[in-house]
Amino acid sequence: MTSVLQVEGGHPLTGTIAVRGAKNFVPKAMVASLLADEPSELRNVPLIRDVEVVSDLLGLHGVEIDFDQDRGVMRLDPTNVKSARRADIDALGGASRIPILFCGPLLHQIGEAFIPELGGCNIGGRPIDFHLDILRRFGATVDKRPDGIHITSPASGLKGTFVELPFPSVGATEQTLLTAVRADGITILQGAAVEPEIMDLINVLQKMGAIISVDTDRTIRIEGVPHLIGYRHTSLPDRIEAASWAAAALATHGDIYVHGAHQPDMTTFLNTFRKVGGAFDIDSEGIRFYHPGGELHSIALETAVHPGFMTDWQQPLVVALTQAKGLSIVHETVYENRFGFTRALRQMGANIQVYKECLGSTPCRFGQRNFYHSAVISGPAPLHAADITVPDLRGGFSHLIAALAASGTSRVSGIDVISRGYEHFLTKLQGLDARVEYLDHQPV
Ligand code: EPZ
Repeated sequence: MTSVLQVEGGHPLTGTIAVRGAKNFVPKAMVASLLADEPSELRNVPLIRDVEVVSDLLGLHGVEIDFDQDRGVMRLDPTNVKSARRADIDALGGASRIPILFCGPLLHQIGEAFIPELGGCNIGGRPIDFHLDILRRFGATVDKRPDGIHITSPASGLKGTFVELPFPSVGATEQTLLTAVRADGITILQGAAVEPEIMDLINVLQKMGAIISVDTDRTIRIEGVPHLIGYRHTSLPDRIEAASWAAAALATHGDIYVHGAHQPDMTTFLNTFRKVGGAFDIDSEGIRFYHPGGELHSIALETAVHPGFMTDWQQPLVVALTQAKGLSIVHETVYENRFGFTRALRQMGANIQVYKECLGSTPCRFGQRNFYHSAVISGPAPLHAADITVPDLRGGFSHLIAALAASGTSRVSGIDVISRGYEHFLTKLQGLDARVEYLDHQPV
């Protein structure tokens, strides 16, 4: 049984939606609350599955959480943090990658941590080798057992260390930050990720009493302190959700005002959106994204770590590129297997070919390694309705956009995956005049 969304395509999305806190920041700030000996307050918290999973995991460890969903205000009290029962943690395993970020804070607070089977979208191997190497460098013992990975802190506590990342991994940077802030001594992290979500996590940790500096060469320096206090913080908005709705406006010839969209976090996306032929108006509350009429233009696009074009922006934008005149090229350099969603687009009439070669300005880690990580999109190719199944979070949203842009009525199965990262997406669609009907629990 699965949840199906019936979508009558061919109608422009027009109206206003609001984005709240960033899916790829809020859960990390929640984990950071574990590092304090007193309560914290986090604002602009969205009601998404990833927040629910991390709330449940924190609850298992004795953190008391009070979440006012309407106001988006969450209070987290870690005063009684304790070990959680393995079976309970396991029950939540497979739902997210965030549990691995509990390690540093739990090692500081209770001397041990347990990593269940991790979740996350099927867009590549999603290894955790960087994370385990980092924890060992701080002095932790990492014990891989059949039921999961058990990590313990030495009796003398964790010590500051030197970490040089082979790739500016967001998660590995967060792992280092969440562990270094209370380690004894100085930690130097080279080759760090510097996404806006990382910088907002540093804002939170600094409010808690951490001493962190960021150099222009991706070097982060953390001076460990013995105690951290609670924080009060308002999350940055979700720039991935904002860009997803912008791509939907372009693909459906629509006009969407995204309340909460923040220009400085979206500079590269806005440049690309304009080059494809989209238009936008920016004010102090948000950004209006619209199709100004005329043709869309094909482009050559390469995803990269910040400040480059974000990997999570490419899936929704590819749907708009299927409607652009000429040949577009997308070279995905962050994940090795992030074009699986194009199968459904081809089923709907899109003209997309994927390649193992690096079709971009710079050869990447995946060249000559048998990964289909480049795509050529020829357009415009009219899309027609089809019955499709959501593959992952961002690919799922691109399927939704394709169904909204296609002529005819599509049935999109596995739609619930989208609520992992898009708050109230069904209500938002209805508010944008989308002709959608939720068919709950249909036979597959
Ligand atoms: C975060 O994932 C985001 N998820 C992803 O968003 C985002 O695409 C990604 O960062 C890049 O910006 C969350 O924040 C919850 P990485 P993360 O570590 O931290 C390799 C979405 O849809 N790597 O930066 O898991 C890895 O294989 C999701 O919102 C290792 O090799 O990403 C990948 O090729 C999708 N070993 C590259 O680094 C490791 O130990 C980037 O991964 C860790 C990562």
